[in-house]
Amino acid sequence: MRIPFHRPYITEEEINGVVECLRNGWLTMGEKTLEFEDRFKNYIGSKHAVAVSSCTAALHLSLVVMGVKEGDEVIVPTTTFVATAEVVNYLGAKPVLVDVEIDTHLIDVEKVEEKVTDRTKAIMPVHFSGQPADMDEILDIARRHNLYVIEDAAHALPSWYKGRKVGTIGDITAFSFYATKTLATGEGGMATTENDEWADRLRILRLHGISKDAWKRYSKEGSWEYDVMENGFKYNTTDINASMGLAQLRKLEDMWEKRKAIARTYSEAFAGLDTVVPYKVKEDRVSSWHLYPLRLNLSALRIDRDTFIKTLGGKGIGTSVHFIPLYRFKYYRERFGYSAEDFPNSEWVFKRVVSLPIYPSMTEEELSYVVEVVYDTLRRYKR
Ligand SMILES: Cc1ncc(COP(=O)(O)O)c(C=O)c1O
Repeated sequence: MRIPFHRPYITEEEINGVVECLRNGWLTMGEKTLEFEDRFKNYIGSKHAVAVSSCTAALHLSLVVMGVKEGDEVIVPTTTFVATAEVVNYLGAKPVLVDVEIDTHLIDVEKVEEKVTDRTKAIMPVHFSGQPADMDEILDIARRHNLYVIEDAAHALPSWYKGRKVGTIGDITAFSFYATKTLATGEGGMATTENDEWADRLRILRLHGISKDAWKRYSKEGSWEYDVMENGFKYNTTDINASMGLAQLRKLEDMWEKRKAIARTYSEAFAGLDTVVPYKVKEDRVSSWHLYPLRLNLSALRIDRDTFIKTLGGKGIGTSVHFIPLYRFKYYRERFGYSAEDFPNSEWVFKRVVSLPIYPSMTEEELSYVVEVVYDTLRRYKR
């Protein structure tokens, strides 16, 4: 059997949505994008939702509207995709790395405040695997030091923190619709916020800084004339993506039910094994289960994580590692002098973690096969 790490869940709905766009001839941002923003905002319960070309673009524009500039510092967890820190570099600011908690892989809030300096402008928590970060503590630190909070919610759709949906908590929240995400349009992203001025600026900045409805200039109601309000970016999305997004949003909760069921099956199957260290979801959080992190108890095994991955690969099972911590990358080591000794928890996690396949198009048979192979591999290599 071959089970890829990810397989998209595309049905006739997405196909028909895209075909409708191709037939009506409106290929770039237009009415479908506005409808997607509207439905997304209603689903999340936020005041604004601004569609962009990626989560990276949403994170970048968030820093821009908050006025982050050269010489500033932004607090970022070690264990994230490089996009979270990369956008800080775009502005000549410094991503200040903070270690994560062993149990949850979330930014360790105990270690955040000691990294705050008079140059710090924002904190960017990452809701790892779909589990929301410790938002109360983060917002409290932010309030006391006058910092903004931008949530990297690339994994967190839908997720809840103490009954509140992610997307309504921090100053701006950035979602990803990348191919493997819980709502996938190929590429795409969304920024949600309660702040009217920021929402307006996000809309202007995503399309070259030109006046708000500039995309209409190619339509009947549009005109050739426009003004450039400030220097912007080419970060708009397209109606083709938005049509897929609308279809995916309609079945988001069904897809989430399937992910939840897979996570439950894995957790029950591996509970009590001394060859794994369970990943914890805190009691007041509900995870989207974008990822299922399995953590190997290396002292109970005769193989390391990489050999475990190869063994599963040899049996046709695709896995991944989330994430290679940022301080392990050449650029971050050389530019900022980060090194592994300063982040013991992240190192612990990195050496043990494997992401197992978890997606709505996974069949019962495929799930049983993964459980069986993981179980057998753990037993075979037990010390
Ligand atoms: C935690 C995290 N942040 C940001 C991103 C970037 O998302 P996008 O590809 O939509 O820019 C990703 C994508 O994998 C991610 O996992």
